Amino acid sequence: MTLLGVNIDHCATLRQARYRETPSGRGIIIEPDVLSCAKLAESGGADSITAHLREDRRHMTDPDLFCLRKNISTKLNMELACVPQMVEIALELKPDFVCLVPENRKEVTTEGGLNVIGRLDEISEAAEKFAERGIECSLFIDPDERQVEAAKKTGAPLVELHTGAYANSWGNLSAREFETKRLEKASKLASELGLKVNAGHGLNYENTGPLLDRCEFNELNIGHTIISRALLVGLKEAVSQMKSIIVKHSKSDGIRE
Ligand code: PXP
Repeated sequence: MTLLGVNIDHCATLRQARYRETPSGRGIIIEPDVLSCAKLAESGGADSITAHLREDRRHMTDPDLFCLRKNISTKLNMELACVPQMVEIALELKPDFVCLVPENRKEVTTEGGLNVIGRLDEISEAAEKFAERGIECSLFIDPDERQVEAAKKTGAPLVELHTGAYANSWGNLSAREFETKRLEKASKLASELGLKVNAGHGLNYENTGPLLDRCEFNELNIGHTIISRALLVGLKEAVSQMKSIIVKHSKSDGIRE
């Protein structure tokens, strides 16, 4: 069965919109509380909690990550840029998984996939450090077979295929088929090379089922749509609704070791 990782960055985005400059410990109620959000996501069926510690700390902060590490009961997936300062923090935090993503200060959210071909040495070096520390390292890449082959060369055990183009193709049948085929091919190749395959970005309550009907994934990482629906139905229910879609459309009953 495909697992569900819930990205709760937007819970921190909302908090920072009002309280970025407010020091904690002064009796002011700082909300929403990120850990409470993670716990609600877990109670709705999340298999892991994903948090992106950006270099500009625009949403999640270092204390958020350390608090999640200590207190959640599922797995923690930390997203980070592949730069020495962030890698050091991740090694200290020791999440269950890390996902290396490209980071551009001007983007609203992670936009393209990581260029593994162009950064083979530094990514391989980081992947090796994570492996030594017992952290599974994933690379967020476009569904491009050359990037999959490069990912394999780094020694990272996991890839996360970028589903943004698939999501953006919605409403155009031929583009949607084209993007689905890219994901099919890339996920098949990654599996054949012995990589575990995750996917994420732009997945929602409409496009997730049809994707799972065509491709097999270890885990989907989903944020925006769940947090948006949570405004209407509550976070636990929003996660539970997504989990039902995944359960209904998952092919295998593969279990993550
Ligand atoms: N996977 C990665 C690597 C991400 O950076 C993000 C957030 O941008 C997601 C998945 C979740 O994307 P979304 O919020 O669109 O569901």
